[in-house]
Amino acid sequence: DGDVVVLGIETSCDDTAAAVVRSDGEILSQVVSSQADLLAKYGGVAPKMAEEAHSKVIDQVVQEALDKAYLTEKDLTAVAVTIGPGLSLCLRVGVQKARKIAGGFNLPIIGIHHMEAHALVARLIEKDLQFPFMALLISGGHNLLVLARDLGQYIQLGTTIDDAIGEAYDKTAKWLGLDLRRSGGPAIEKLAMEGNAESVKFSIPMKQHKDCNFSYAGLKTQVRLAIESKKIDAKIPISSASNGDRLSRADIAASFQRIAVLHLEERCERAIQWALKMEPSIRHLVVSGGVASNQYVRARLDMVVKKNGLQLVCPPPRLCTDNVVIGFQPGPTFSGEIFTSRTPYALFVNLIR
Ligand code: KG4
Ligand code: ZN
Repeated sequence: DGDVVVLGIETSCDDTAAAVVRSDGEILSQVVSSQADLLAKYGGVAPKMAEEAHSKVIDQVVQEALDKAYLTEKDLTAVAVTIGPGLSLCLRVGVQKARKIAGGFNLPIIGIHHMEAHALVARLIEKDLQFPFMALLISGGHNLLVLARDLGQYIQLGTTIDDAIGEAYDKTAKWLGLDLRRSGGPAIEKLAMEGNAESVKFSIPMKQHKDCNFSYAGLKTQVRLAIESKKIDAKIPISSASNGDRLSRADIAASFQRIAVLHLEERCERAIQWALKMEPSIRHLVVSGGVASNQYVRARLDMVVKKNGLQLVCPPPRLCTDNVVIGFQPGPTFSGEIFTSRTPYALFVNLIR
C-alpha cells in the first residue's frame, strides 16, 4: 500500500538485534538477543566470542522480527544495517546477513551509522523534533555531544578523551561486586538510591578545560582507590555483604553517580550556550544511548536543559539501548534514491577546543 517498510539489523557490539519499522514511524517488531552470560563470564565484550554468538542467533533473530511483524522478506522496501562504529568482526555478521537478504530479494541496503541511529530514534517519539537539534549520546563506548543540523549533517561539539560514562558505570559495578549478568549501569543506579551522594568526595573531571569534551578514566581511578581504601571485597557479592559494607558500597555508587552526571551537566550547559549562538532556532536536546535510560541522569539533564530554554527529548529505555530501530525520515529521503551511508565519519569534526 505504498508504505516504506525497512528491516534493520544491528550487531555492532554484544547485542544481536533486528527490527521492522514502517515509514510512518510505527515499529512493527523489535527483537534483541543479548549476550549477558558471556558478559558476566568475561567481564566485558571479547570480539571473537561475540562474533560467534552473533553468528549463532542472527538468522533466528531476523526471522523472529519478520514473523512478529507478520511479514516476509518480499514485503520489505530495504534492509538497513549498522556499518559502524563497532567491533569489525561483529559488524560483519550483520552486514553479511543484510547482504544475503538484499541480494536474494533485490532490495537496497542502507548503511547506518550507529551513533546517528541513537540520535535519530528520538524522532519516532517526539514528532515535534526538528533540525537543528542537539544530541548527547551516552553509552558504553561513546560519549558524544553533537549538533544535528540536518540528516547526515552533524557537528561534533565534544567527545570523550578516554572512557565513556557507561564504561565507568560498568567498572564501578564490577569493583563493587554487583551482579554483572545485567550490565553495570542499572545496578549502580539502583544501589545509589540507598547511598549518600555527598559522602565520598570525588573531583569533577576536566574542570580546567573550558571545552565540551569528556573524561571518565580519572573518575574511574578515584572510584577504584576509594573502594580499595574501604577494603571492599568484590568477591563478596552485595547480596551476602554485611549491612555496613552494603551501605558503604551504596555511598560509593551514589557519590560516583553524582559526579559522573555533574560532568555531563557542565558540558551540556556549555555546549547549549555555544550552539544557540550558532543556531538560535535549536529547541531540543536529545539524550540517547544506554546510559540515557537512567532516571537520575534524565532528571538532572532535564533541569539543565530547561534552565537554558530548551526541551529534553529522551527515548524510552528500550529505544535508548542498542536496538536497531532507526528514526528514518519518512517521505523525501525515500522518494527518490534510497540513501546509502549518510554519515561519512569525516562529518564528525570536533569544533570546540
Ligand atoms: O547504547 P548501549 O546499549 O550500548 C553501547 O553502544 O555501548 O549502552 C550500554 C551502556 C552500558 O555501559 C550500560 O551500563 C549503560 O549503557 N547503562 C546504564 C543504564 N542502563 C544501561 N548506565 C547507567 N544507568 C542505567 N540505568
Ligand atoms: Zn549504542
